[in-house]
Amino acid sequence: MPETIPSIILDCDPGHDDALAIVVAARHTNLLGITTVSGNAPIESTTYNALVMKDLLGLDVPVHKGAMCPLVAEPQYATYVHGESGLDGADLPAPTSTIDSENAVEYIIDTCRATEGIWLVPTGPLTNIAMALRLAPDVGHRIAGISLMGGGTFGNRTTSAEFNIWVDPEAADIVYKYGGPLIMAGLHVTHQFRATQPRIDVVKAMPGQLASVLGDLMQFFTNMYMSRHHGMDGGAVHDPLAILVLTHPHLFTRKNAHVVIELTGTHTRGMTVIDERDLREVKDGNCDVLMTVNAQEAFDVMTQAIKYFSH
Ligand code: RIB
Ligand code: CA
Repeated sequence: MPETIPSIILDCDPGHDDALAIVVAARHTNLLGITTVSGNAPIESTTYNALVMKDLLGLDVPVHKGAMCPLVAEPQYATYVHGESGLDGADLPAPTSTIDSENAVEYIIDTCRATEGIWLVPTGPLTNIAMALRLAPDVGHRIAGISLMGGGTFGNRTTSAEFNIWVDPEAADIVYKYGGPLIMAGLHVTHQFRATQPRIDVVKAMPGQLASVLGDLMQFFTNMYMSRHHGMDGGAVHDPLAILVLTHPHLFTRKNAHVVIELTGTHTRGMTVIDERDLREVKDGNCDVLMTVNAQEAFDVMTQAIKYFSH
């Protein structure tokens, strides 16, 4: 059972791993709302996909549409990973739910002011979160913290930059400087959490439409990963870790470090520059950087969450 049940807003860009983060959040958190952002696919697609997951899980949770482009940069997508729809690889049931608003940022601000102690959990580009912090700086003092998937000690979209940070580095800069509790699930830990074939087969063996859809989505995601990488035995399921660190913290190790966002480097724009030097002069940490995850136990939690909604 989870050690804590945090109240959260999940800000996401579904996206195969975002879809699994929605399942874990629905099972193990007090999921107040889902907000969507442009990232893996354009905002219309990520929002549609969030509604698909809401209905597949039978959730009574609002979905608010967010930013259609980064603060400064031009929009960029990851259709080379997630497909044109952002959620390719499965026969997705058309949602009957509709969005609750087209203003995710206003929803985030209003909810954080009405209910103190919420965790903001962004698993896509940080545009919505940054806009909320800029429009309402008091949000930074009202929330319990921000637990994000992004960054890392290496990149994926470029040599040095991870996709979520790379899409909107200016937004990430605002978030990493906000001053409150910040947890970062970077690629160096998410690559430990892979959808290997035996793990996918456990999901595929479950009854019901949800398990069938998620099994197909995981298969698509893993096949894509294995076709693009030399030595990976499954797709890195990035986003659920930003949830699991809040609900099952014992599954992780972490270290507090000073992390800044590179905004101008020709080859490094969007890099999370993590200061790991053992020097007294190093600035105080602004971020808990997740370092390891007990992948099998974490995958069991995610699989059990899928089973909980499968019937
Ligand atoms: O780099 C991986 C991250 O980018 C994940 O959140 C994935 O869903 C995409 O948003
Ligand atoms: Ca994502």
